[in-house]
Amino acid sequence: MATMQAVRFHSYGGPEVLVLEDVTRPRVNAGEALIRVHAAGVNPLDWKVRDGHTKAWLKHQLPLIPGWDVSGVVEEVAPDVTAFKAGDAVYGLLDFMRDGAYAEYVAAHTTNLAHKPNSIDHVRTAAVPLTSLTAWQSLFEVAGLQPGQTVLIHAASGGVGHFAVQFAKWKGARVIGTASAGNKNFLLELGIDEVIDYRTTRFEEAVKNIDVVLDTIGGDTQQRSWPVLKKGGILVATLGISSPEAAREYGVRGEGVMVRPDAAQLARIAALIDGGDLKPAVTEIMPLAEAAHAHELSQAGHVRGKIVLRVGG
Ligand SMILES: NC(=O)c1ccc[n+]([C@@H]2O[C@H](COP(=O)([O-])OP(=O)(O)OC[C@H]3O[C@@H](n4cnc5c(N)ncnc54)[C@H](OP(=O)(O)O)[C@@H]3O)[C@@H](O)[C@H]2O)c1
Repeated sequence: MATMQAVRFHSYGGPEVLVLEDVTRPRVNAGEALIRVHAAGVNPLDWKVRDGHTKAWLKHQLPLIPGWDVSGVVEEVAPDVTAFKAGDAVYGLLDFMRDGAYAEYVAAHTTNLAHKPNSIDHVRTAAVPLTSLTAWQSLFEVAGLQPGQTVLIHAASGGVGHFAVQFAKWKGARVIGTASAGNKNFLLELGIDEVIDYRTTRFEEAVKNIDVVLDTIGGDTQQRSWPVLKKGGILVATLGISSPEAAREYGVRGEGVMVRPDAAQLARIAALIDGGDLKPAVTEIMPLAEAAHAHELSQAGHVRGKIVLRVGG
């Protein structure tokens, strides 16, 4: 049986439970492609699954290979697959319930995949799927963001935030973001209109009449966000709405978002990248063997843009 190198964990725990080992190479089932992984994006979801934070609702079988953002090249496809062929460069958001991309190969249903953008390499491509889809679905599907509206994006320099800033500008919105001072220039280069340093300024004293808040922080940040919305405005939260009654009190809406794979949206996002309208930011590139260190960094909560693991080559 063919084997491959992969990072897995056999029990829930800290970063030290991640081990690089030889495992059986996956095989394709109907509708699937086998991808030779070039790069795997790192997301907070990866360490939340690893430490058992999500086990009540994501009932994984262990051992598990984490990492659901992939960029790579199709090695083979199942006989019924026509959308992709061996040799195609692809990227995608994998099924959270299956093994991920911290591995030399991963099998994926083709509905999770799109052709990779041509203008960037696999490392930058692997930074894109989960957080760009979250930003896209939050702003356009849930909030219905319109040109001319004003959006406040919390953690604007993070994985979700830096894509949200660019999508909202592309849509023609006015974009305000919260971030620490060290990320101000990074965000201005992405086209943001205004940056509020959350360490020195209470954002609720600096802005009002906001149409859409994108909240990837929760807690106190979410509570202080309700009054900045104009009547009828909406707060979209990646970590859930803790107090629906607060939204009602202010005459606004609060909606949670749960990202889902969407091949058509990934194809549109790839076109935006190739057209120069979207720039994924990767600030840390590490080999697969340093997955534990990547998790520590992500878990510390101050990554600018994305961390990506380079696999092979
Ligand atoms: N529901 C879903 O489908 C979904 C999808 C994607 C993500 N999520 C969740 O959403 C959260 C964000 O994800 P992510 O990938 O964007 O995280 P991330 O990339 O790890 O976020 C890091 C960023 O957060 C900023 N930050 C930290 N504390 C802040 C604060 N108090 N105010 C403003 N900015 C702050 C940091 O900037 P500084 O260095 O300047 O502090 C850093 O740039 C995670 O908890 C993730 O699990 C959920």
